[in-house]
Amino acid sequence: MEPYKIKVVEPLAFTTRAEREAALAGAGYNLFNVPAALITIDLLTDSGTSAMSDRQWSGMMLGDESYAGSRNYFHLEHMVRRITGYRHVIPTHQGRVAENLLFSTVVKPGDRVPNNIHFDTTRANVEHNLGVAVDCVVDDAYDVTSPHPFKGDMDIAKLDRVLAEVGRERLPLVMLTITNNSGGGQPVSLASARAASAWCRRHGIPLFFDACRFAENAWLCKTRDPDCAGMSVEQIARAFFDLGDGCTMSAKKDGLVNIGGFIATNDDALATRLSNMLILIEGFTTYGGLAGRDLEAIAIGLEEVLDERYLEHRVGQVRRFGERLQAAGVPIVLPVGGHAVFLDARRFLPHVPQPHFPAQALTCALYLEAGIRGVEIGGLMFGVPDEATGAWSWPELELVRLAVPRRVYTDAHLDYVVEACARLLARRDTIHGLRIVSRAPVLPHFTARLAPLGGPA
Ligand code: F0G
Repeated sequence: MEPYKIKVVEPLAFTTRAEREAALAGAGYNLFNVPAALITIDLLTDSGTSAMSDRQWSGMMLGDESYAGSRNYFHLEHMVRRITGYRHVIPTHQGRVAENLLFSTVVKPGDRVPNNIHFDTTRANVEHNLGVAVDCVVDDAYDVTSPHPFKGDMDIAKLDRVLAEVGRERLPLVMLTITNNSGGGQPVSLASARAASAWCRRHGIPLFFDACRFAENAWLCKTRDPDCAGMSVEQIARAFFDLGDGCTMSAKKDGLVNIGGFIATNDDALATRLSNMLILIEGFTTYGGLAGRDLEAIAIGLEEVLDERYLEHRVGQVRRFGERLQAAGVPIVLPVGGHAVFLDARRFLPHVPQPHFPAQALTCALYLEAGIRGVEIGGLMFGVPDEATGAWSWPELELVRLAVPRRVYTDAHLDYVVEACARLLARRDTIHGLRIVSRAPVLPHFTARLAPLGGPA
């Protein structure tokens, strides 16, 4: 059961099918353009959508809004040091600013940045600085039926290949995303982090964690890896951070807050360069684009996220959601990861070819069916048209992510989603693909507009 009780409630929005059809057409078949007031169950993201606790809300009243040296900054610094062991704590208003700061400081044109799989903003920030983002995850990550318990693991042979190709000078850092969001929210094992760390140390390359979901990763290690079973989540998380030189963090995930992030590192010279840039783009080093009250909420959230009762329920709720979908015959990525269930659109809609955006088509169909919002992680997000020929290169996976916000929905809400998916599966032949109407060159999925290729889904 939920290890908390509910003190404040927010009514759900209910709509008619006709209202949803109009909303979707007006939104160019892109759920990012649909107002949240027209969504019944919003599984677009687990980012910034958490319910805060009574302690966090009361902490916000203790916000010290001093421009420099706010006491809430020192509370945050204390918590981040306690969890990561990293000396320098640089607040940012969200994760991608941490990425922007880091990559604009260390990446030179032509550099390679390996990661298990880059999240979309991570990839875009590397590429914006004219670097090349290289995914080096184990092959199992691309096999949506493989039972591998740690599909976020790094493939060291792939790191070797990148190094052999460009040489050490072109590798400013290696990143490891815990959990591996774009590959299905899959965890990284401590053994893999150790191997990646040893590799980085051998070649004198810094290792950074993309730590958005570090606590969920630690919980999955505790429950899937016998070597971690006797450790606390905090010990496991620390064992990871001890292997690296720093981390970027979107506190909108495992910080259990609605806004915030940070970079933490032990590298003094890097911290100075990052702090100078921070002042230029975010604000002074003790607030980094946040209010004092936000810093306080993150500090408290980082403590609450280590509560193992909370994590057991959180990760268990997502797993049960996946199990119920599976029992209904809905094809999903297995094993279920930490923060989301990923529908496998290739198997759900085998009749829709990849150039017709099957995962986006399924996302739209789910909204039309029941007012549920998920997000496409497939050809719309990662497909790239060749400028000269117009031919597209396509990603390996066509997924619909149903991300579960933290402490927001009950199992009954998720049952509603399972039922809607089962109904769609039964009439999947009626779901048609889509074509692009307009598309931005960077992070296209946020603003792209599409049109249906057949009748309404
Ligand atoms: N890294 C990972 C692994 C993420 O999942 C995200 C955000 C970021 C970095 C960027 O953080 O949003 O605070 O700027 N993921 C959200 C999602 C948006 O829906 O998965 P941000």
